[in-house]
Amino acid sequence: MKIGVIGTGMVGKTLATKFAELGYQVLLANSRGTEAVARSIEGSIASITPSETSDAMGCDVVFLSIPWTGVKDLLETETPQQGRILVDTTNIFLTYPPNATIDDLKGGSGSETIAELAPHARVVKAFNTLPFNTMFAPTPPKMRRVLFVAGDNESVISTVASLISELDLQPVMLGSLATAGRQMELGGALSALELLAPVKGD
Ligand SMILES: NC(=O)c1ccc[n+]([C@@H]2O[C@H](COP(=O)([O-])OP(=O)(O)OC[C@H]3O[C@@H](n4cnc5c(N)ncnc54)[C@H](OP(=O)(O)O)[C@@H]3O)[C@@H](O)[C@H]2O)c1
Repeated sequence: MKIGVIGTGMVGKTLATKFAELGYQVLLANSRGTEAVARSIEGSIASITPSETSDAMGCDVVFLSIPWTGVKDLLETETPQQGRILVDTTNIFLTYPPNATIDDLKGGSGSETIAELAPHARVVKAFNTLPFNTMFAPTPPKMRRVLFVAGDNESVISTVASLISELDLQPVMLGSLATAGRQMELGGALSALELLAPVKGD
């Protein structure tokens, strides 16, 4: 399975590094081209391929890890190819804390908007409900941190849940983007909710 990651901030670089360390072929992109991507991962020993966004969009699973304000422009230019899985890690900030403002989607969610903008992709919402330094912080022995996954296709949710498990997180598979996805959105019941689950079998 080839993994594309779009965004070289905290989220994109963390996911790219962790999946590369697991042995996946990872293509990492930002808006400034391959040299800028290579600079952003200078010093990393993980085997990550700096790419253009169009190449990252061609991967089997694509993580969209850019600011919400750039999503519409990007997806109006380039979208994943037919059947690819697009994992939406974004939060719908218009401006970030401490002066945060949140987009008004009139009861909809960012992932539903993304699914409309990328109609050929199968969109999943994950990795957005906790800050990354919390998500990957150490846990007590035999415990894993819970990560929610929402989407409109059960097998696609399962594929992403398997990837989450490989990162030593505990996936909790939820329902559709319109129900669960909205609860994972900023201000929703699952946003910022940190849970730990015992490792199965222990
Ligand atoms: N940080 C967290 O702990 C956290 C946790 C959960 C969810 N999130 C969400 O995940 C997303 C990414 O967060 P982050 O903290 O990693 O953001 P960030 O530090 O602001 O990094 C965003 C990255 O996206 C790239 N980018 C911006 N526009 C782009 C475009 N049109 N095409 C390709 N790349 C583009 C930027 O690079 P260039 O400007 O060089 O292109 C930058 O590398 C955000 O939506 C955020 O709300 C963040």
